[in-house]
Amino acid sequence: MNINPKIKEKIVLALDVTTIDEAKELINELKDYVGVFKVGLQFYTGNGDELFRLMNDMKLKYFLDVKLMDIPNTVAKASENIIAKGADFFNIHALGGKEMMQKCVEAANSAAEKLGREMPTILAVTILTSISDEKLHNELGINENVSEYVLKLAKLAKDAGVTGVVASVFEAKRIKEACGNDFKVLCPGIRPVWSAKNDQQRLATPTLALNEGADYLVIGRAVTAASDRVEAMKKIYEEIEEIL
Ligand code: C5P
Repeated sequence: MNINPKIKEKIVLALDVTTIDEAKELINELKDYVGVFKVGLQFYTGNGDELFRLMNDMKLKYFLDVKLMDIPNTVAKASENIIAKGADFFNIHALGGKEMMQKCVEAANSAAEKLGREMPTILAVTILTSISDEKLHNELGINENVSEYVLKLAKLAKDAGVTGVVASVFEAKRIKEACGNDFKVLCPGIRPVWSAKNDQQRLATPTLALNEGADYLVIGRAVTAASDRVEAMKKIYEEIEEIL
């Protein structure tokens, strides 16, 4: 199969495993098809550094999904460390505020520049999908509805110079309309029609996600839990190829 680089750069594979051997297996099997490997808190706090060494040696792009939120100075210093590790993508909470996001962008960009690396892709998390309207009002005391609040935080992130946001496919179009087409949207919850839903609620196919404006698709169990992972990934490529 000819690998279309335009599709590859959109594919973010969730390395939601525990051991370095499991991660190596996924990387070796799927690296030709994956633009960016996503490493979450589970792996990061476990065998993170070993995995980063491996991915740096293999010159693979990776995304530290660690959702930073603290005072601006602390987030700025942590962002420099993330760049020094070798990550190309990482994320922060928009709820940390505009100054925190600005300091993060400045620190990460200048660290990347000093190292002669590409400018990092910094994504803001707006409201976690585990927070409903009810929780936002009753627990957090914020009297807005989630979808409006997501948009407000996306605009704040854009003003702070952040590259884009992590968002549901169902929010992607409105975010693009409000923040412009260059503002990137990375969408989890992707399921081709042939794959299992697992515990995800608001799912979308790769086709729908791209039609709604997603720039990056987080691919997790649709591929990693498939009996033939390479075949599952090829099917996703074929689906995307039809609409590109
Ligand atoms: O396996 P699945 O496709 O459900 O993988 C989902 C990945 O996307 C996980 O790494 C998860 O942390 C992430 N994610 C999500 N829903 C969000 C944000 C991130 O599933 N709202």
